[in-house]
Amino acid sequence: MHLVQLIYHSRPFGFDASALDDILGVARKHNRRRGVTGALLCRPDLYLQMLEGTREAVTRTFGRILDDERHSDVVLVTVHDIDERLFRDWDMRDDLPRPWMWSREQVAAGALRDADAAAFRAVFERLAREPRQAPQFA
Ligand SMILES: Cc1cc2nc3c(=O)[nH]c(=O)nc-3n(C[C@H](O)[C@H](O)[C@H](O)COP(=O)(O)O)c2cc1C
Repeated sequence: MHLVQLIYHSRPFGFDASALDDILGVARKHNRRRGVTGALLCRPDLYLQMLEGTREAVTRTFGRILDDERHSDVVLVTVHDIDERLFRDWDMRDDLPRPWMWSREQVAAGALRDADAAAFRAVFERLAREPRQAPQFA
């Protein structure tokens, strides 16, 4: 089946553990039904998400995400064809940004704007090889 990956980043609005639980609960339910997999990196200054699935399912999911008021400044980074999923076992893996990714200071200074699609893909490729770290926010 023809598959794509989509990557975007955004700025959380009203970020806390319960907001994240709500987002993930609904997201996973929809994703399971639509065959969408992926990962969502969460930090108070940043959402960085990869969606994987058929072009139709990924595009429709991203359309709903764009409308969501729990984040702003959504920037679509890339949609590209893939042969295999990176997160095949995850309806949506939630995870913490790692120290080797962009720091808060770098994000605030505009590092994401300057990064190309390959850099974002490399982040998720490396992440997929590491065990998940459960996000915990007070
Ligand atoms: C950071 C973020 C990530 C999201 N990820 C997904 C997702 O992977 N799949 C999905 O269907 N919706 C995702 N959403 C959208 C919300 O879950 C949205 O409320 C939901 O799709 C709408 O579902 P409803 O029509 O049942 O209310 C995301 C929203 C945000 C803010």
